[in-house]
Amino acid sequence: MSKLLSKKQPSAAVPWIEKEKYQKNKDPYFKFLVNPHFRYTALLFVFLSLWFLFQVFWFPPTKTHYAATTVSAVTTTTSYGVHQNPRTTVTLSSPKCNGRVSVYVYNLPEEFNVGLLQDCSHLNVYTNMCPHVANRGLGQPLDNMELGLSDVNPWFATHQFIAEMIFHARVENHPCRTWDPSKATLFYVPFYGGLHVSSKFQEQNHTTRDALAVRLADYLEDQPSWREHYGKDHFIALGRTSWDFMRTDSGPDFGANCLLNLPPVKNMSVLTVERNPWQGSNQHGIPYPSYFHPSTSDQMLTWQRMLRRSNRPYLFSFIGAPRKGVDKAAIRDEMIKQCAESTRCKLLQCNHGNPKCYNPAEILRVMRESQFCLQAPGDSFTRRSTFDSILSGCIPVFFSRHTAYTQYAWFLPEKTSEYSVYIDEQGNGSKRIEAELSKISEEEVERMRATVIDMIPRLTYAHPNASSTDLGFEDAVDVALDALAHHVRTKI
Ligand SMILES: *[C@@H]1O[C@H](CO)[C@@H](O)[C@H](O)[C@H]1NC(C)=O
Ligand SMILES: *[C@@H]1O[C@H](CO)[C@@H](O)[C@H](O)[C@H]1NC(C)=O
Ligand SMILES: *[C@@H]1O[C@H](CO)[C@@H](O)[C@H](O)[C@H]1NC(C)=O
Ligand SMILES: *[C@@H]1O[C@H](CO)[C@@H](O)[C@H](O)[C@H]1NC(C)=O
Repeated sequence: MSKLLSKKQPSAAVPWIEKEKYQKNKDPYFKFLVNPHFRYTALLFVFLSLWFLFQVFWFPPTKTHYAATTVSAVTTTTSYGVHQNPRTTVTLSSPKCNGRVSVYVYNLPEEFNVGLLQDCSHLNVYTNMCPHVANRGLGQPLDNMELGLSDVNPWFATHQFIAEMIFHARVENHPCRTWDPSKATLFYVPFYGGLHVSSKFQEQNHTTRDALAVRLADYLEDQPSWREHYGKDHFIALGRTSWDFMRTDSGPDFGANCLLNLPPVKNMSVLTVERNPWQGSNQHGIPYPSYFHPSTSDQMLTWQRMLRRSNRPYLFSFIGAPRKGVDKAAIRDEMIKQCAESTRCKLLQCNHGNPKCYNPAEILRVMRESQFCLQAPGDSFTRRSTFDSILSGCIPVFFSRHTAYTQYAWFLPEKTSEYSVYIDEQGNGSKRIEAELSKISEEEVERMRATVIDMIPRLTYAHPNASSTDLGFEDAVDVALDALAHHVRTKI
């Protein structure tokens, strides 16, 4: 655990550590005041407190939210673990809940989630989703991967738009789950909205296309738990981008439904792999799932160790296909051209259905042999590839701020230059990528790579069957629940 929680952890983790200190020192604090022998210690404590307050008020609002909960956490005596249930492995010492996070999972009518899977071959107009929805969304196990030392295979050919299923499976088995709505701080609505919307992309009749989303909204408004806070402590997690759920009458029709524009859903928090940076104030970015779903911290540490030793002969690499007629993807042609011309770039061209592009082992191999991985916007701003790149210890290079910086605030370090390179796609730098990357010193590259490798646990979806005691690190779902609980407290 301590190895994973290195100094380079995203800054959001810092207030948690502060909170533990603050709680531990609560009782001695009063002793300091009456006992002169402790005056020196008291002074030190006051200094530390002032420093902490300074941190709190110096930094912008997100930090202040954490601070507000720090104060309330001191007076909170309820601790998670009182709602024992035979189906979970509840431990009172769980480092993650401690009364801060307590999530109730709605038992929705099946048409909103598992019922959709019965027709898995028609969930996506382009692909048969049946292999991908297997193993609760992890997909098919990969057996051509390294890391053979563990008995439970952590590698799966996970589909990029399946986060909603994995999230559901993880929360169902999460130590912070409660079966008692009156004890819940969060209400999770496990709707497989991404799978559903993609099954209706070609539905011309908008009423029909929106019907299930509208039924969900009606269902929620009828729930007693909803009325308590108008749904402000409710959330959904979606495995597709927000654009797929924000159809407007004036905008182009590319198959989206209106889920995120429905009034009840606007009151909820929406976790999505790509938020709308302009109209998505209730939307929070969550990582695309990659291929690694470890059950133990041992598997995670082993993988991180292998990455640190990885030989990286290529300065940079690009994996992707050219896009036709998408303005914001023009940079892709430029990248393919520059990469093909450079001896220090590894190009994996994905047009004409190149099978290597669908082979996770091949993708991760290319990325593990590269120092930098170019992340061009494609059909939308974000890419799953960003998370494959981080999983490979390859420093991502972004060309749009919306590929990561405006998306994943809960997960990424605040200071973007600690873990990534930004080359403005309009600027001169994008015309000479190799020269731009060569300017970065070797020490700087090493430092960034160390940060990237340290970021992996928080961006990983652990195996849903992992027991919280074996897991030993905070994965993407843990981070999201923590952050969400704090966010919701500021709203209700
Ligand atoms: C989790 O464990 C259960 C019970 O052993 C098993 O049936 C299920 O397939 C496992 N889930 C995954 C995703 O492997
Ligand atoms: C769309 O479907 C609804 C409900 O099935 C129906 O009432 C309506 O007439 C349809 N609209 C069009 C334009 O076909
Ligand atoms: C959304 O929240 C507001 C209060 O902020 C409330 O007035 C409104 O009724 C809620 N909407 C729904 C659909 O619950
Ligand atoms: C970009 O290149 C053009 C032409 O070489 C030059 O005039 C301009 O100043 C450069 N811009 C920046 C920001 O360096």
